[in-house]
Amino acid sequence: MTAHETLQVRVVKKTAEAEGIASFELARVDGAALPPFSAGSHIDVHLPNGITRQYSLCNASHESHRYRIAVLRDAASRGGSTAMHDSVQQGDVLTISTPRNHFALHPAQHTLLLAGGIGVTPLLCMADRLARTGARFTLHYCTRSPARTAFAAEIAASPLAAHVCFHHDDGAPDQKLDLPAVLAAAGDGDKRLYVCGPAGFIDHVVNTAKAQGWPQDRIHLEYFAAPVQDTAGDQGFEVRIASTGKTYAVAPDVSVVEALRGHGIDILTSCEQGVCGTCLTRVLEGEVDHRDMYLTDEEKAGNEQFMPCCSRARSKLLVLDL
Ligand code: FES
Repeated sequence: MTAHETLQVRVVKKTAEAEGIASFELARVDGAALPPFSAGSHIDVHLPNGITRQYSLCNASHESHRYRIAVLRDAASRGGSTAMHDSVQQGDVLTISTPRNHFALHPAQHTLLLAGGIGVTPLLCMADRLARTGARFTLHYCTRSPARTAFAAEIAASPLAAHVCFHHDDGAPDQKLDLPAVLAAAGDGDKRLYVCGPAGFIDHVVNTAKAQGWPQDRIHLEYFAAPVQDTAGDQGFEVRIASTGKTYAVAPDVSVVEALRGHGIDILTSCEQGVCGTCLTRVLEGEVDHRDMYLTDEEKAGNEQFMPCCSRARSKLLVLDL
């Protein structure tokens, strides 16, 4: 369930951008201008198979005639990327949400953008924005191979070219990303780091930056899917709704959202993977077992809020501010 405002859009162009990656240009069915968005924004796409997925907008943020997204076919797909690749064709009409931004750009004297694979999408939009405003920035774009590098030709032919360094796993050693050197070269001044990609890539970048003393509030990250969780040891627990005092059991194999939904209590959700932040709920009592990629480490340690679509309880009971 989602309460985000929705739009009907047509897929005006579907393009194979690289091995396993397709882009989709979306325009309003009624031909009107699309709602404005800022660099780093994403939309929900309601897929023909009934599931909803979030995709970052990767076109220039001043454009109002189109939204462009790019999707990697994921071998471990839970239905999202496969549906986009196989079931969504040029000319199709899709329902999407209006854009939201949990990954916004902040002004800085030097901005470092680090992309892992398809994680380039929000960073491409940021790079365009930074280039248009004359900001100092570099985008390091890491992929497995040139064949898997979406938008490479587009970048090379654009004003971004001078700001983008490509790094390929299968390339020569001298073109590989020297992460400690890149992070150190940003110096001690007013700097910001934005990273998007697979969880392992993000963790590596963030840990290296922190080890170099980058302040946490200068590091911005966005996961595009939550890492697979080991759920083998999950236990049941109870949740209490503070407003009614009623208590409900959460079985080991269902989420808090699903358990409450079964009793007619709906919590707004979108990704149901702990990525988007839609289901954020305040916790009044009990200890949370955080499983999401949305809250910061400090927010998780605070134990005052959690993501009931994926997070669970370490205590026998959680009391929720609902
Ligand atoms: Fe996206 Fe819970 S619905 S984080």
